[in-house]
Amino acid sequence: MKKLIAGNWKMNGTQASAMDLISAIGIGLDENPSLTDTCDFLVCPPALHLTIVKDAIEGTNAPVSIGGQDCSANDNGAHTGDVSSDMLADIGCEYVILGHSERRADHEETSAYISEKAGRALISGLKVIICVGEQEEEREEGREFDVVAKQLRESLPNSASAANTVIAYEPVWAIGTGKAATTDDVAAMHSFIRKTLQEKLADAGDIRILYGGSVKPDNAGDLFKVENVDGALIGGASLKADQYLGIAKAV
Ligand code: 13P
Repeated sequence: MKKLIAGNWKMNGTQASAMDLISAIGIGLDENPSLTDTCDFLVCPPALHLTIVKDAIEGTNAPVSIGGQDCSANDNGAHTGDVSSDMLADIGCEYVILGHSERRADHEETSAYISEKAGRALISGLKVIICVGEQEEEREEGREFDVVAKQLRESLPNSASAANTVIAYEPVWAIGTGKAATTDDVAAMHSFIRKTLQEKLADAGDIRILYGGSVKPDNAGDLFKVENVDGALIGGASLKADQYLGIAKAV
């Protein structure tokens, strides 16, 4: 299975910087075409920048998919300020990230709500990247497996399958801290996630499980060697084309 190199740009940048970033990624991929033998590429810009980034990708034929960082649980209609999964699909998104720990924290999103959003996104034909991960104190208390199992059981909609769903394990304490999880911890959690998915999905063996949390070019090689690590969900390092592509080169 190719590794999915997914950049979560979060709430960063301007139209100009988004254009600079996607064009630098496109040029880098043009210069290193063999990267697409081992990796699939995805960027998730802020909602307001999705269209210009999509247009730039289409203009250069760069082998990069785009995705949203969130979507509404509702169908189109009277939901001021929200972005629907139909709208994301309409402008050419292939993926949407759901249940990121920053949304769980900033917007008090529960796993049940994330499951509703995911069900809606799948109806729109998007693939969903469902994020799970424990807080630091939950790990200190030895509860990381229970927390992640509960998030998985409650966040996945019944329509999920390996073809339309990706799981991202992002321990909250590793996000933006420069303190990635150890390869032993990642190995244990990713294998646990795959086993837990087997309760619900007949094709759990084929589902992609990404690791996220302080992934950089210098730790990506070791992380990618870990069994059941099928790619990375990258925050800070995805905002620099050389680092984003450096992570792919580490495959
Ligand atoms: P960092 O790579 O900045 O730690 O962020 C990870 C993340 O939250 C990706 O969704």
